[in-house]
Amino acid sequence: MANDTNRFQAIISHCKEYGFIFPSSEIYDGLQAVYDYGQMGAELKKNIRDYWWKSMTQLNDNIVGIDAAIFMHPTTWKASGHVDNFNDPMIDNKDSKKRYRVDHLIEGHAENLKTAGKEAEADALLAAMDALLAKDDFAGLKQLIEDYKIKCAVSETCNWTDIRQFNLMFSTEFGSTVSSDAEDNKVYLRPETAQGIFVNFLNVQKTGRMKIPFGIAQVGKAFRNEIVARQFIFRMREFEQMEMQFFIRPGTQKEWYEKWKETRLNWHKSLGIPAEKYRFHDHVKLAHYADAACDIEFEFPMGFKELEGIHSRTDFDLKQHQEYSKKKQQYFDNDIDPATGKPYGNYIPYVIETSIGLDRMFLAVISQAYEEQDLSTPEKTDSRVVLHLPAKLAPIKLAVLPLTKKDGLPELAEQLMAECRPHFRCFYEEKDSIGKRYRRMDALGTPFCVTVDHQSLTDGTVTIRHRDSMEQERVKMSEVRELVMKAIG
Ligand code: GAP
Repeated sequence: MANDTNRFQAIISHCKEYGFIFPSSEIYDGLQAVYDYGQMGAELKKNIRDYWWKSMTQLNDNIVGIDAAIFMHPTTWKASGHVDNFNDPMIDNKDSKKRYRVDHLIEGHAENLKTAGKEAEADALLAAMDALLAKDDFAGLKQLIEDYKIKCAVSETCNWTDIRQFNLMFSTEFGSTVSSDAEDNKVYLRPETAQGIFVNFLNVQKTGRMKIPFGIAQVGKAFRNEIVARQFIFRMREFEQMEMQFFIRPGTQKEWYEKWKETRLNWHKSLGIPAEKYRFHDHVKLAHYADAACDIEFEFPMGFKELEGIHSRTDFDLKQHQEYSKKKQQYFDNDIDPATGKPYGNYIPYVIETSIGLDRMFLAVISQAYEEQDLSTPEKTDSRVVLHLPAKLAPIKLAVLPLTKKDGLPELAEQLMAECRPHFRCFYEEKDSIGKRYRRMDALGTPFCVTVDHQSLTDGTVTIRHRDSMEQERVKMSEVRELVMKAIG
């Protein structure tokens, strides 16, 4: 592959060609930054979601999962600060009328500088941007854009408006009654799943008899009216988050923050993705609710970018909900405080949040898995596209391929399908040559293919082919199920 841009384009095309991801409502030319998952993509996405859910809830006795509604009482978003603070500074080009998020515009220019070998200049630009963003200094940011002569990609001019704030929440009308004041009926599509957890903190704590420290996990859709929605499923307007809020005693946040940073990085590494593809990035400008925050960045085809956020959210959210709802959000801790010899008593818990985009994780997994292999020999040219997906995430675990459509081979293959189908996703295929069928399974990331041939009829053995090494071995048909189960763990 010539360069990373080409590689990224190849991955996007592959996702479409093999039923992983389609542009939304494509017959109407699509909808910007909205995507549909196809038959293979939905399976892969579900497997990532299940892997996260199991590692958070099943493997942690003190974390439970919920499924809150997307619509929430509008006051939720006033309390959380999203109505007032969930803004991005943006700027318009007066000639092209194109709108940019200021940080994206500047980062794009820094990337160009780096490509031109001007690393130091790019770093200075990014450092200046971080400092100005941290102070919300919009005049300074505009000056920076002018100083660096940053141009609009469409008009190629530097004719910019002033920088303004733009709220990213989508709103809609609720109910059927018409109100003279549109604000009365206004509800928001949640921009994060976290608030569904906060407003249920006491419900879960009381009904689940949860004792601090404990966590509440949730997976669900979130919506943001992103100004610059691009880079495929990296930045979407409708996406899915996998979030966990961990409720702790005030004063212990530093230690839990470090613990969750380490735990989450280990989760990523447990998928077998090399450690050097990840790095931490500490936030310079903290969100309105955080006293510490970092991203786990992943090396996507377009460079290192945020994959997951770990935030020390203090008691901000519960305190705000207590104030706006007038309902106490306190926990009574009857553990003994060694400093006083008395119970810790009532307090509003502090929170450590782990928040990962499911779609971004999908992009990380598929871009890491994608490989174009040259298999040419002196005798013939050959190649394949293979997805080296972790076996536990692969949409199809086993393909069962009778060598021919006759002589009782399909019937024997069906016996194997019947044995394996209840345990994991299998796929049966008798069309095309065996080589073509292998290639198709490689492109879908299927870790195992089994070929049922004439020898199988006499001695009950089959050929199992391993996707990554392409090695084949003869095994008893009765052992296939166990072999695959072991690999998918
Ligand atoms: N509750 C905290 C929160 O929402 P965030 O850093 O804004 O924090 C968390 O988002 C994660 O959600 C990000 O790390 C990213 O993986 C994912 N995410 C955010 N915006 C996204 C978008 N427009 N498209 C896809 N994923 C997004």
